[in-house]
Amino acid sequence: MRDKLINKAIKVLEDNFQDGGFTIPSKGLYPFQWKWDSGFIALGFAHYDLKKAKIEVETLLDAQWENGFIPHIIFHTDSDSYFPGPDFHQSNLHPQSSKKYRSTGMTQPPVMGFILERLLEIDKGSDEMLEFISKQIDKVYENHVYFYENRDWNNEGLVYIYHNWESGTDNSPMWDDIWLTMDPPEYEFERRDTSHVDASQRPSKREYDHYLYIIDVAKKYNYDDAKIAEHSPFLVLDPLFNSILIRSNEALIKLYKLLGGNDEKIAYLKSKQQKSIQSLNAKLFNEELGAYLHFDLRNNRQIPYISSSSFTPLYSGAPDRAMAERLVKTMIQKFGGEDRYLCASFDPTHEKFNPKKYWRGPVWINMNWMLYHGLKRYGYDELGQRVKNDSLELVENNGFFEYFDSRKANPDAEKSGYGGDNFSWSAALLIDFLKEES
Ligand code: GLC
Repeated sequence: MRDKLINKAIKVLEDNFQDGGFTIPSKGLYPFQWKWDSGFIALGFAHYDLKKAKIEVETLLDAQWENGFIPHIIFHTDSDSYFPGPDFHQSNLHPQSSKKYRSTGMTQPPVMGFILERLLEIDKGSDEMLEFISKQIDKVYENHVYFYENRDWNNEGLVYIYHNWESGTDNSPMWDDIWLTMDPPEYEFERRDTSHVDASQRPSKREYDHYLYIIDVAKKYNYDDAKIAEHSPFLVLDPLFNSILIRSNEALIKLYKLLGGNDEKIAYLKSKQQKSIQSLNAKLFNEELGAYLHFDLRNNRQIPYISSSSFTPLYSGAPDRAMAERLVKTMIQKFGGEDRYLCASFDPTHEKFNPKKYWRGPVWINMNWMLYHGLKRYGYDELGQRVKNDSLELVENNGFFEYFDSRKANPDAEKSGYGGDNFSWSAALLIDFLKEES
């Protein structure tokens, strides 16, 4: 059974791997290379084809800009199955953008630090992998420096995102109140996503108007970070994004120590790390709700909703014991009913919860992977195991979908897998979950 599932997962990855040395998340719906997808995908490859794992990482890091920025999508090929493409994004407006690749001018969570660490673990600390890491690690470091030097608006160790697509949790209800502060023009464009996936599982046209408008604001300022911070209607401190940065800092420090030398880089990362953890706990943890929240910098307020991102600081190691205890309690109470799979992407007890729609409720395997490791880190082994088992069960019962219904008895459908099919990170992380046991 297990081997059969792993073989199926391998087939998904192999089918999605492209000649240009990168892997698409899903045919038709996502036909290019995505930043955080690439990291998770590399972990899947690493269990059976180290060469491909390395190529995936190399190709992504090759698209880095001169200022250390790594874009969220690298448009390696021309494909008309996706909108908005490179002609809309025009990231070459930024003077330091890549001359080699076309890309977006926004980024995604910085997973690559902990991905390199995990690759070394999977390859049992081999010299070859260490050698590979020694060649790539400075690019990841430069990406962190980019964030701290350009995106830490209040100099508090927390970096902002200026677009909901930077969060990775694209149409989470988190952003709803921000949309209310905006009134973008009605764009005329042809959606491509809804020709691949049922519209009920995707964002609305009006939501897309907001997404496009923020990009236009960034373009107006040639993607200059300082100007974006000043003018973007969307400016958010995201607990997921910052937790991933913190966890990746930790991994980089560890890897640099292993490699030897690099004292200045280690010192830089350590000082940022301390500040980041302090501010994450002080500014984003909400005692009353028992969760980390998003902070809307533009409107200077916490966003009072709980999502799976709220628990990801466990993976970063930032919460103290009491905070971790509170988080776990909230997760069990609101997300963990017997009739549910863990972990819904949005608070199932909230009226905005939608079990089928993109980031407004379904379970995502990459979030579960981080939560699993986070729960284990704090000794919540049983709950962690439940998150892992639920992930395996969802994939086994439904296939390698992009996201899954969190309701165990799903009244609306026979299958509970939604969004893109043969989705790469669902396959890659299933392999990592299963191989971890062997
Ligand atoms: C969706 C997800 C995003 C992911 C992308 C490619 O846009 O919201 O997190 O990176 O698909 O899979």
